[in-house]
Amino acid sequence: MNLLAGKRILLGVTGGIAAYKSAELIRRLQDQGADVHVAMTNAATEFITPLTLQALSGHPVHLDLLDTETESVMGHIELARWADLILIAPASANFIARLAQGHGDDLLSTICLAAQCQVAVAPAMNQGMWANQATQLNVSALIAQQITIFGPSEGLQACGEVGEGRLLDIAGIVDLTAATFPNERLRGRKVVITAGPTREAIDPVRYISNHSSGKQGYALAEAAIEAGAEVILISGPTSLTPPERARLIPVTSAREMHTAAMQEATDADIFIGVAAVADFRPIEASDQKIKKDNTGERLTLTLEENPDIIAAVAGLNDGPYTVGFAAETSHVIDHARRKLTRKKLNMIIANDVMDQNIGFNSDQNETTIIWGSQEQTLPIASKRTIATKIVGTIADALPEARQ
Ligand code: C5P
Repeated sequence: MNLLAGKRILLGVTGGIAAYKSAELIRRLQDQGADVHVAMTNAATEFITPLTLQALSGHPVHLDLLDTETESVMGHIELARWADLILIAPASANFIARLAQGHGDDLLSTICLAAQCQVAVAPAMNQGMWANQATQLNVSALIAQQITIFGPSEGLQACGEVGEGRLLDIAGIVDLTAATFPNERLRGRKVVITAGPTREAIDPVRYISNHSSGKQGYALAEAAIEAGAEVILISGPTSLTPPERARLIPVTSAREMHTAAMQEATDADIFIGVAAVADFRPIEASDQKIKKDNTGERLTLTLEENPDIIAAVAGLNDGPYTVGFAAETSHVIDHARRKLTRKKLNMIIANDVMDQNIGFNSDQNETTIIWGSQEQTLPIASKRTIATKIVGTIADALPEARQ
């Protein structure tokens, strides 16, 4: 996959021995589909020639603030506007200090000042310089300005010392660069997610419910938003703060959730049923609090089945791509596969709720995604990480017609 397809990256190279690595960095960014322009500080040209970087990037290298020739091709303001991301790699201690101070006395610092896009900085310097309090204060100032810092890493340095201050490895810089761009694979898609438990009233103060925290469903809502989707979160009662950009439909009972889901699912592209819907509800909720009469008599509650929300959505004509969850206590994969078929889902996420480290109230999860004849087990990770993976798998699996 081209992680940086169509992205415009202005690579700023500053003066340090690691500047030679920027040649490799240009190539690896291009491998991921990026268009790379290079701006160098004067000091950087002492370490690597502009000609090398020009040949690799395929564009004239930008060197001077007041160079009439390059300024007429693309001036500093145009460069700042052109870039989707400004990546300074390697960033010297001196450049970091000047950036923190908001200097605008050379081309690269002026571009950074004018930039509206994200700026990322990959420091590279001697370990003593990195550890110096002045540098650390400058880095904190950059972070406060929403500038992203990549690395540095630890190890043997060009000066022969060992410590923190090495330029992060090139693959790591490319990965982090890709991660600064929102993955928008679900842009324009409507995603409906049910989350949390439902409550089935016994009387005005009592109900039947379950241990669902809503964490996995809310994490999926966040991941789908990050992927560019319009997200409708139909949620039973939870103590979580819903993602800001989701449209929240709060519900209490399974029947309310069912009504909201059927309304929203008809024009949805994807439906993800994460809610732990109560399978049964009391036939009739008493409208007064049920009193005990101290006779030791038993109270019998008669329950009836709730609608199976996800099966109803999966049964819609021309309905959304439907993804269910199977919380199981044994033979997890077998039971999940059967559920996938029985409910006519497109995909099911199986997890073992007997494991205390994962599932219901935990922040972690370990799941297996099952779709068609395929199966992918995701190792234990935060529910947010799992959510991003699930959303990516759904985006890959969406039928052609919906892509
Ligand atoms: O049958 P079971 O409850 O194990 O199925 C779990 C999956 O079905 C989950 O995706 C859950 O959100 C969904 N479900 C539902 N309506 C129900 C019961 C479960 O949507 N009444």
